[in-house]
Amino acid sequence: MSWEKEEQEKGMTRRDWVKIGIAAAAVGSVAGIGGLVTGQILPPPYKFNGEIRETIQYTKFPTPQWWNTKAGQSVKVSDFQEWQGATGVWRGLYQNGTYVPGTGFPCLVIRIKREDQYFSVPTPEQMPAALPKDFNLVFDDPTIDAANGGTRIVVLFDRCVHLCCYPGWHVVDNPPPGRGYQDYGADPPTFVQFGQDPVYCVCHGSQYDPMLLVVNVNDKNGTSYVGARRVHGPAPRALPVIPVKAQGENLVGGMAEPAWYVYC
Ligand code: FES
Repeated sequence: MSWEKEEQEKGMTRRDWVKIGIAAAAVGSVAGIGGLVTGQILPPPYKFNGEIRETIQYTKFPTPQWWNTKAGQSVKVSDFQEWQGATGVWRGLYQNGTYVPGTGFPCLVIRIKREDQYFSVPTPEQMPAALPKDFNLVFDDPTIDAANGGTRIVVLFDRCVHLCCYPGWHVVDNPPPGRGYQDYGADPPTFVQFGQDPVYCVCHGSQYDPMLLVVNVNDKNGTSYVGARRVHGPAPRALPVIPVKAQGENLVGGMAEPAWYVYC
């Protein structure tokens, strides 16, 4: 009996088949490893419908924010005022044009000041991995909002390296004590020179400076990566950056090394 006919006769839904397919695949791989022959006919593999978007899309924030009405739209490189930021998702899964919640890499998109006295990035010799073609550690364009010196955008993976909460950019109006200059273990230019709070994790107060991109080691897998320098604990290291480029007006993420993001 064909599987389509069997499906009809048993009244099984496609969802049921997917569940069986997943379980069967697990059994099949175990059997394969053990060299067993089960003699079972497995259902055909589930046909995946959907797309993974490399463009960064806005996501809705739980409290009122300027970008909430843009949720689900592509982030555009000219959307931001200086020091403005937003939450987004990179490599999210979309089915029938709708984002599947929980998929992809949550990220913070931040337009920092476009200047070179305090901003720092690793030199090509210090880079721990090659970036995909045409991608850079930041988006940088002197012609967008040229009156304010141009546009520079940093995109960070939005999972705290301490215990994987979601750090925020300028979404907390009433910060707890312990954020002042004297509390920083470093001189974060974002705060010291430009009076802007660094990236802040409300869970335990970790902070990261998006103007200081440094090479650190992911202690979960020993991989060197580039991230926004940790300027306040308890986080022990930098928040990983997501390399970017513009595709037309849209901001697109690029994978340098998946191990940069594996720690939650
Ligand atoms: S999870 Fe971010 S500070 Fe603890």
